Amino acid sequence: MNLPTEVRYRPYADWTADEIKHIEENVAKSPWHATYHLEPKTGLLNDPNGFSYFNGKFHLFYQNWPFGAAHGLKQWVHTESEDLVHFTETGVKLQPDNPHDSHGAYSGSAYPIDDKLFIFYTGNVRDENWVRDPLQVGAWMDKDGNIEKFDQVLIQQPSDVTEHFRDPQIFVYQGQFYAIIGAQNLNKQGFIRLYKAVGNDVHNWELVGDLDFGGTGSEYMIECPNLVFVDGKPVLLYSPQGLDKSELNYDNIYPNTYKICQAFDTEKPALLGASEIHNLDYGFEAYATQGFNMPDGRALIVSWIGLPDVDYPTDQYDYQGAMSLVKELTLKDGKLYQYPVAAMAELRGQAENLADKAQTNNTYELEVTVKANSKAELILFADKDGKGLSLTVDTENGQVVLDRSQAGQQYATEFGTSRSCQIDNHDITLNIFVDKSIVEIFVNKGEKVFTSRVFPDTDQTGITVKSGSISGTYYELNY
Ligand code: FRU
Repeated sequence: MNLPTEVRYRPYADWTADEIKHIEENVAKSPWHATYHLEPKTGLLNDPNGFSYFNGKFHLFYQNWPFGAAHGLKQWVHTESEDLVHFTETGVKLQPDNPHDSHGAYSGSAYPIDDKLFIFYTGNVRDENWVRDPLQVGAWMDKDGNIEKFDQVLIQQPSDVTEHFRDPQIFVYQGQFYAIIGAQNLNKQGFIRLYKAVGNDVHNWELVGDLDFGGTGSEYMIECPNLVFVDGKPVLLYSPQGLDKSELNYDNIYPNTYKICQAFDTEKPALLGASEIHNLDYGFEAYATQGFNMPDGRALIVSWIGLPDVDYPTDQYDYQGAMSLVKELTLKDGKLYQYPVAAMAELRGQAENLADKAQTNNTYELEVTVKANSKAELILFADKDGKGLSLTVDTENGQVVLDRSQAGQQYATEFGTSRSCQIDNHDITLNIFVDKSIVEIFVNKGEKVFTSRVFPDTDQTGITVKSGSISGTYYELNY
C-alpha cells in the first residue's frame, strides 16, 4: 500500500494507543488469516531474519512495520519454536531506536556464540536530505531475550558500492566466521561481498573480496544472499533484483534463485563449480529466503511469502505477508530438494481418500499422485461451479501449471495469473499444504516448489477433481 513517507517513518512513540487499537481491530476483520503459518500481528511482514538455533530453541525473527501494510520504519520481531512448526511470538524486538539504525533495523542473520546470540544486521540510516548510509551493525541477545546493541559500526559503506549494501549473513566455514553482504556497484550491478571476522572476533570484520559465484551482474542488486552447506556442497540462495530474463525465465516482479556449487575457495574468494542459476520457487510469491546450518549439519530455510512492491488484498486490513513453512534442503542426484521439516507430518489428523468435497475449512494437506503419460486438473478453493485455484499436472507434456485467475480476489495481475514448471514424464507426487490464503505445493517431495497466496471468495472452500485421474489422500491438519 502506498502511504506517505511521513506516515511510514513516523516515530514508533508517536503512534497513540487508540491508533494502534484501531489497526488491531482492522487486522482482526480479515477473512484470510492463516492457521499454521506465521503472520504479523499487525502491519507488514517481510524477510525472515536471524534464523538460528540457540539455547535449545529455534529462533526466527521477521522484518516488520507494525502500523499498516507498507514498507516503513522496520523492526525485527522475535519468535521461537521447539519443533519448527509452532512459533511463538515473544515480543522481543530489535527496534530502530539508535543512531546506527534510525531509519530501520533491516535484514540480517544470527549465530550463537557462547551464551549469547550474535545478531548481524543492516542499520538503515538517512540524513536530513534523505541520503542513505547503510551500516552493518551488531547486537547480542541473551538467553532471556534482552537485546544489547553494539556501540560501534561493524562495517561502513565502502566507497565502491552505492547505498544498496545490506543483509549480512554470518556463517562458519572450517571454524572461521565469514559474512556475505548483498551489494550494488557504481555501475548499478548486483554482487556479493565477503568479509571475515579477524581472530574470529565478531567485533572486527575485514574485507576478503567480492565473491565470484559465476554471476553476470545482469541484476541491479542482490538482496539477502545466503550460503548454506548441503552434504558439504555450498548452496548460494539469493534474490537478484532486475535479473535479465535471458539468464533465467521468471514471472514474479523479483526472483529468488540459487546455485549449487562444488567448493568454497576462501582466498579467491569464489564458489567453485557453480551450477547455472535456478528458480528456488515457481509460485507467485517466495522471496528473501533465509537459511542456516544446524549444529548437526542440516540446512534449513524459510521464505517470505510475499514480494516487494506488490499490493495485496489484505492491505485494506492493515497487514500483509506471511512466513513459509520451514523447509529442509537435501541434494539428490545433484538436484536441490526443499521439503517441510518432518514435524509437519505430526499435524496430520483424520485422513480420507481424495474425492470432490463441497466444503473444507481450507486447512489441509493433500498427498496425491498423477501417473506418467497423463493429465489431470485439480481445483482447490473451489466454489460450487468448480471455479477456484487450478492445478494442472501434465506428465505427458512435462508441465505443472498453477492458475489463480478464478480464485477470489485478483492482484498483481500484470505479472500474469499462472505459473508453471517443467517436470519429467513419470509418476508425480504432490504434497499440497493449504492454509486459508496460502498454498505450498511440493512436487516430487520438493524437487520443484510453488509457494503462493490466494485470497478466496467466501464460497471458495471446496476441492474438485476437474479432469483426469488424480488419486491420493486428504488429511485434516490440526494445529
Ligand atoms: C528484502 C529487503 C532487504 C532489506 C529489507 C528491508 O526484501 O529489501 O534487502 O534489508 O528488505 O525490510
